[in-house]
Amino acid sequence: MRLPSIATSLSAKLLVLTILFVLLAEVLIYTPSIARFRMSYLEERLAAAHIAALSVEAAPDFMVTKQLQAKLLAYAGTHVIDLIQPDARVYMLSRPMPPEVDEVFDLRAAGNWALIADAFRALTQPRDRVIRVIDRSPKDRAQRVEVTMDERPMIDAMLDFSRSILAVSVAISLIAAGLVFVTLHALLVRPMRRLTAGVVAFRRDPDGAPPMVPETRGDEIGVAGRELAAMQDTVRAALRQRERLAALGTAVAKINHDLRGILSTASLLSERLTESADPEVRRVTPRLMASLDRAVELCGQTLSFTRDGALPLRRTSVDLRALVEDSGAQALDTVRPDGARVEACWSNGIPEGIVIAADAAQLTRALVNLGRNAIQAGADRVAVAAERRSGPDGAILTVTVTDNGPGLPPRARDHLFEPFAGSARAGGVGLGLTIAREVLRAHGGDLRLVESTARGSVFALDLPAGAASDASSATQRSFVSH
Ligand SMILES: Nc1ncnc2c1ncn2[C@@H]1O[C@H](COP(=O)(O)OP(=O)(O)O)[C@@H](O)[C@H]1O
Ligand SMILES: [Mg+2]
Repeated sequence: MRLPSIATSLSAKLLVLTILFVLLAEVLIYTPSIARFRMSYLEERLAAAHIAALSVEAAPDFMVTKQLQAKLLAYAGTHVIDLIQPDARVYMLSRPMPPEVDEVFDLRAAGNWALIADAFRALTQPRDRVIRVIDRSPKDRAQRVEVTMDERPMIDAMLDFSRSILAVSVAISLIAAGLVFVTLHALLVRPMRRLTAGVVAFRRDPDGAPPMVPETRGDEIGVAGRELAAMQDTVRAALRQRERLAALGTAVAKINHDLRGILSTASLLSERLTESADPEVRRVTPRLMASLDRAVELCGQTLSFTRDGALPLRRTSVDLRALVEDSGAQALDTVRPDGARVEACWSNGIPEGIVIAADAAQLTRALVNLGRNAIQAGADRVAVAAERRSGPDGAILTVTVTDNGPGLPPRARDHLFEPFAGSARAGGVGLGLTIAREVLRAHGGDLRLVESTARGSVFALDLPAGAASDASSATQRSFVSH
């Protein structure tokens, strides 16, 4: 992973967002203020009109000369002015031929939304209109003023106002965005980039990456930085430990391999002792051979456990019934701890014709481990059956191994599937169940202990049924153990 470029970085996104948000805020402010601006403009006009109309009162016979009337109207920026007194007297100034009115606005009745709508409508008028505006006089609320005027000068003023608001908005948003950008960059983005760069470098090369400079800040970024530094130390330590363990594993595997060869030779040679003339020698020979066999088994089990990495599988099409039969033969070839051979019954309840894609040798190993455990624990009957059921991710073929032994001792149960820890029998290694589970997991399945009582134990081997197929449709039924 590379660090994002400036254009796609957090700072750039924040910059753009800040500009957008400030502009949005300005639009929200602009909407009522343009309406307010139009209202003030009209009120100014009305106030001027009121004062102009008062000249009528002062004139002899309430008649103003034509020249004065034209002047007054020009100053007020209107064509016609009516000032209506509370007693219904009307003072009127008018051009000789007043233009026709296009629209009347009665400000006394206009609500805020209507004023906003009128303002925007005014801005979008295509032609110059003549409007009549009615309101209580801003100079004296008891009097009413009505004026007829051109709309164009007002629109020009509104456009000027809008332009200056736009200029101010852009300036404010640039300044705000710049400030936000600089602040966030210093407070957040730069430390985040440092953290990110540290993580990227660490992932690329955990050992070579420079140690993170510990953050001294008290806020969340400081905590994240310190925690990250601590986590890197933990990961480094774990990696070193893993390396050591791997080296140890290789050494153990080498020793085991040689030891197994030596022990096998010893085991072969000791068979000769059964023909010895000395009865005492003949008496101890089976125990010696059993011990040697156990030692060979220990080496074999440890060897298969210490091999590195995930279990490599060589999948082929395997007939499950034949595989179970074969496993039974190997499991029955088990020696009890006292050296005695066992007489046990291996009941193969797998129907004919179930073919699965699996590593036959590994799967046999798992089944043999389970069978041996049962026989070593004292069972004299082991039954294997299969059943197809549907799990959350598709069909599952479950092979159950049921024995009539004494059940798992508490120690084995507490450390179930823990390598080297789960053994509860003399001479046990504690790898059989671990290896069996590993085999099942490598096949995409799992090994479970279903139940274990004083009357026996049941282990279940789950295999994804994608790996299984029935050779004949006759076996497409659920399998029941015999
Ligand atoms: N079917 C079983 N019945 C009773 N005990 C069992 C059975 N399977 C396993 N155990 C117990 O679990 C322990 C762990 O088994 P395993 O992992 O194969 O290690 P190991 O056989 O080397 O001791 C055994 O020592 C035994 O006590
Ligand atoms: Mg075992």
